Amino acid sequence: MKMETTIHGLTASLSPAKHAKKLIGFVPTMGNLHEGHLNLVREAKKICDLVVVSIFVNPTQFGPNEDFDSYPRTLEQDSHLLADVGCDIIFAPAVEQMFAKAPRKTNIQVTDITDGLCGHARPGHFDGVALIVTKLFNIVQPNYAFFGQKDFQQLVVVQQLVRDLNMPLEVIGVPTTRAEDGLALSSRNGYLTSEERNKAPQIYASLQHAKGALEQGELLTSVLEDMRSHLQAHGFEIDYVEARTPELQTITDFNQDIVLFVAAKLGKTRLIDNLIVHFAT
Ligand code: PAF
Repeated sequence: MKMETTIHGLTASLSPAKHAKKLIGFVPTMGNLHEGHLNLVREAKKICDLVVVSIFVNPTQFGPNEDFDSYPRTLEQDSHLLADVGCDIIFAPAVEQMFAKAPRKTNIQVTDITDGLCGHARPGHFDGVALIVTKLFNIVQPNYAFFGQKDFQQLVVVQQLVRDLNMPLEVIGVPTTRAEDGLALSSRNGYLTSEERNKAPQIYASLQHAKGALEQGELLTSVLEDMRSHLQAHGFEIDYVEARTPELQTITDFNQDIVLFVAAKLGKTRLIDNLIVHFAT
């Protein structure tokens, strides 16, 4: 496994594979890797000849009061984990490498589907994601890019970006990896105290309960209200509990699949999760 920290170095490392027309898979991450990230790499290995994983804590997707400075940087540990799952190249640039000194005059904005859900509580977040993902796609030029369904809105935003800008790659969504008690794996789970960690699986429990209730024919509005009450009773501060179509549109027709979304805080830690309820025939 190689580690590259410059765009020039990465381009040189990828050049033989590109000339040999090998299939390149790409897994963008911010590091502090867990099994969820490793499963993205495992999926990439199944269909690609060479897998690149980027590790870059992207300043442009963090708000002024968010955890950019404290976000865990664990490059050495991450590189051992990646070597074990067969990653071929780690791309771990410094901020100066990705954002040169000259002021940037280009923004990338995916509209409409970034307004609600996490876009509401984190204004500008998806602009930062769209910008860094566009830059990384241009640098790596992969055939396939792999994103976790845990960040469902992000996945849909990136798919839209790739479609709208005719980027020559396919974006693949990979199912959420969960702890045994159902908690969706996330780098931010490490912020939870042990008491909060014990409560955190209630998010998935509430999603599963809601799915069952919808399948039994309960009304969506009362199912969402029950989820809110359940989470509040367990000490969560709710950011949103919502249902959307898989394309992130408002639900108008109940003969289609529904995605249930939760974002809620336990203490200082904001957790997100989602679950798809299949209704489409
Ligand atoms: O999901 C993440 O870790 C980040 O948003 C991503 C896609 C690596 C962009 O910085």
